[in-house]
Amino acid sequence: AEYETILVERRGAVTLVTLNRPQALNALNSQVLADLLAAFAAFDADATQGCAVLTGSEKAFAAGADIKEMAAQGFADMYGTNFFGGYETLTRTRKPVIAAVAGYALGGGCELAMMCDFILAADTAKFGQPEVKLAVSPGMGGSQRLARAVGKAKAMEMCLTGRMMDAAEAERAGLVSRIVPAADLVEDAVKTAATIASMAPLAVIANKEMVNAAYETTLSAGVQFERRLFNGLFGTADQKEGMAAFVEKRAGQWTGK
Ligand code: HXC
Repeated sequence: AEYETILVERRGAVTLVTLNRPQALNALNSQVLADLLAAFAAFDADATQGCAVLTGSEKAFAAGADIKEMAAQGFADMYGTNFFGGYETLTRTRKPVIAAVAGYALGGGCELAMMCDFILAADTAKFGQPEVKLAVSPGMGGSQRLARAVGKAKAMEMCLTGRMMDAAEAERAGLVSRIVPAADLVEDAVKTAATIASMAPLAVIANKEMVNAAYETTLSAGVQFERRLFNGLFGTADQKEGMAAFVEKRAGQWTGK
């Protein structure tokens, strides 16, 4: 498919999605949302694809929602059209999505990165929720996901002052899984995604669902959810294959069944 604001490339079983509005530091306008929704729906539906990487440019993952597009909107426009509501659909992508962040991930850009399953950061990455400076606030889940990722103190300070966190601070705080040199970011993310895509597909989806459950439920309900999914995987052909392959000292050959 052709998209206006993103580039989509298949590298084996990995779908690489690159935000591509360099003139606006990848600011997220309605066309970006439409393109992302179409690309991730296609990714989820394509059985040859096992994991996706979402990235931006060296200078910016995304510098936020498009301020020029938002500026004139009134309450009825925002509420009536559920302006950023479509991004919730992205979070329901069943297969894993890695955010590979270099440069600015601000406002909606930081929120979009946090909607992904984990964030790999270049040493140049800068994260922030500067919406307060525009007399607004996070609107795509940033106040909630940042608080869950880094705790109340840092989330509150970031939202109230709009200051940015560099990659080292983001790693210490648990916002990103790892920091890599900027020059290696996309290759490292694609390699990590290829590793994930080489696992049995149903096990990948189950692992993603259970870690996500940790953010939606109580400990005992989450452990119960995990146990049921774990037990369920013993009904798959790939579990038989995976354990047989270990015993026979060979690589597993998955059927996705
Ligand atoms: C629209 C943007 C933009 C944005 C940058 N640009 N960010 N356009 N929306 N969020 C445009 C600039 O207007 C400029 O276009 C071009 O991109 C390059 O940006 P510069 O500012 O010239 O670059 P630089 O001096 O390097 O500064 C980089 C920056 C700065 C520090 C990232 O651009 C910045 O502060 N951007 C806004 C960050 C922000 O407030 N994000 C939160 C948005 S609100 P021209 O045409 O002038 O060259 C938000 C709401 C989320 O995200 C809540 C619901 C989703």
